[in-house]
Amino acid sequence: MPYTLNPARTNFKRGSTPGLTQAAKQGPQRRQMSTKKDRLFAQPLQDVPKFTFDGQVAAVFPDMIKRSVPGYSTILHMIGQMAERYARPGTVCYDLGCSLGASLLAMRGNIHCSDVNIIGVDNSEEMLERCRQIVASQPGNVPVELKAADITEVSLEPASICVLNFTLQFIAKHERAALLDKIARALVSGGVLILSEKLSFEDTEHDALMTDLHHDFKRMQGYSDLEIAQKREAIEHILVPESLEIHRQRLLNAGFRSANIWFQCFNFASIIAFR
Ligand SMILES: C[S@@+](CC[C@H](N)C(=O)[O-])C[C@H]1O[C@@H](n2cnc3c(N)ncnc32)[C@H](O)[C@@H]1O
Repeated sequence: MPYTLNPARTNFKRGSTPGLTQAAKQGPQRRQMSTKKDRLFAQPLQDVPKFTFDGQVAAVFPDMIKRSVPGYSTILHMIGQMAERYARPGTVCYDLGCSLGASLLAMRGNIHCSDVNIIGVDNSEEMLERCRQIVASQPGNVPVELKAADITEVSLEPASICVLNFTLQFIAKHERAALLDKIARALVSGGVLILSEKLSFEDTEHDALMTDLHHDFKRMQGYSDLEIAQKREAIEHILVPESLEIHRQRLLNAGFRSANIWFQCFNFASIIAFR
C-alpha cells in the first residue's frame, strides 16, 4: 500500500522543527549522515555476494553513497534548486529509486508553489521502511507519497519533475528505453528529468583513468583496498554504466528536446533533459 504523509494532518508549521534532533534540524543530508558507517565489505569474504539493496545496505546507505559517489551532496543540493525552478502546480514531482528519500527531501525543502505532490518509488521494502521514518520525522508543506513498486512497471501521473538519481544504472539495459519513454510521456511541456549516473567511456585509457581517480576518492574517504575490490566485485553486472553518448541518444529518442550534462566529477555525472 502506498504511504502518504499529508502535512495538512500534521502539526508542522513552516520553519518549525518540533521534536527533532539536532541532526534532523540540520537538514536531510546532515540527518542521514548520522547513520551507521559502511563496513559491509571490510572483512575478507570467501564468496562475495551480489550487491542488493537489502536491510544491511539500507542501514549504512547514507554513509555508503556519500563516500562512494563524488559530488553526491552537491547533486542533492542542486536537485533542490532545480525543483524550486521547475515544479508546477497540478503536477507530481517523482523520485524514482528514492532509497532513503534524499532527493525527494531536497525537492520538498525547495518547492514553494501549491498543489504539487511528491511521489517516491522504490522496490526495496527495507529502503522504503527507513525512508518512511525519515520523511515523517521532518517538517514540510508538500505532501509526500511513498510507493513500493518497480519503476519499470509503475504508471506515472502528469509530472513536472522526474529524478533518477543513480537509479537507471541498476535497471536492465533492455528496459531503460521503455522507462525513459514512459517518463517523457508523463512529463508536461517544459518538465525536466534529472538523470544522474555512473558513466563509462569509449576511450579505454580515459575510462581507466576515471576508474583510478574514483578509487583514489574512495581511499581518501577511508575505504581500504579490500573494501574497494570486494564492493567492485559485488556490484559488477548489477550496476551497469553506459556512456554519455548512449544516454543522450536514448533521451532524444524518447522525445526529450534536449539532454545535457550539468554536473560531472570523474565517472559520475548528472544530465538535465527537457520535454
Ligand atoms: C543508488 S540508489 C538511489 C539513490 C537515491 N536516488 C538518492 O538520491 O539517494 C538506487 C535505488 O534504486 C532502487 N531500485 C533499483 N531498481 C529498482 C526498480 N526496478 N524499481 C524501483 N526501485 C529500484 C534501489 O532499491 C535503490 O534504493
